[in-house]
Amino acid sequence: MSTVYKLKPEQVTESLVVLYAPHREAQATKFVEAFGGQALVIRPQQTLDLTSLDPDKHLALVFDEAVSLQSTGPKPPGPVFVAFEGNAMVHRLKHGGGKGEQVAKAVGLSKVSGDRQLTVLDATAGLGRDSLILAALGCSVTMFERNPAVRELLQDGLDRASIASDVTDVVERMSLRKEDFISASSDIEDESFDVVYLDPMFPDRSKTALVKKEMRVFKQLIGGDEDADELFEPAYRISKHRVVVKRPKAAPFLANKTPSLQIKGKSGRFDIYTKKAF
Ligand SMILES: C[S@@+](CC[C@H](N)C(=O)[O-])C[C@H]1O[C@@H](n2cnc3c(N)ncnc32)[C@H](O)[C@@H]1O
Repeated sequence: MSTVYKLKPEQVTESLVVLYAPHREAQATKFVEAFGGQALVIRPQQTLDLTSLDPDKHLALVFDEAVSLQSTGPKPPGPVFVAFEGNAMVHRLKHGGGKGEQVAKAVGLSKVSGDRQLTVLDATAGLGRDSLILAALGCSVTMFERNPAVRELLQDGLDRASIASDVTDVVERMSLRKEDFISASSDIEDESFDVVYLDPMFPDRSKTALVKKEMRVFKQLIGGDEDADELFEPAYRISKHRVVVKRPKAAPFLANKTPSLQIKGKSGRFDIYTKKAF
């Protein structure tokens, strides 16, 4: 029997700790090879107590039944992963209950006739929640995500959903480009998508933002998307009808551009930049 080697917290200097179940070894290894930053790989014959690590310094990426991000330190919140299947809201949206959703109004779905499929480019896909809503409402969605760890979660969510019968048709309308939208945009033609959707991270330092586990790991992993203003110009050029920017309530306009319309919600708003009517 092979001995299990227990790692001590002081041996962990890397900010990202990667753990994997044996059946996920190839995927985890591929991720680490491609990952630009510092990552420590914990092999199945090693153990590490994640609760003994400093939660402000270390985050874990776990390849198991799902791929998830896990905070470290004592009493960490639960793992963050993508689950598109079994979602009651998607079920409702698929069956015609969603044109009143704020994001649906923001992209202009109420302005197009039932059989027209809008093409949406989601330049900042994250965990794909907004893209999922738009795809459930019938849009064809092309997602861009530049963070390698977030991409693993998103791809894993798409893979599981593609074999889950309740959402197979929805995720067939979603595709993922594992690239930075700003650099990739030069190869995308003018007005080639009906709508471009932007939801970059905003450097919000309020405590409420830290309450949500998704926010906590995203802040740690990504920070504040400091170059977010650079998304605006290519997004505007590539969109045919409008650019939609999701923003926290108190955030300034993206790239200092005043929107043509706004939809305000409880905690956030959509700034809409219209070009041509639908
Ligand atoms: C706030 S999250 C988006 C959440 C998403 N709307 C959802 O519903 O799950 C922002 C994401 O955009 C990504 N991002 C920011 N700038 C990007 C860029 N230039 N190209 C691709 N992805 C980008 C970040 O890595 C992060 O995952």
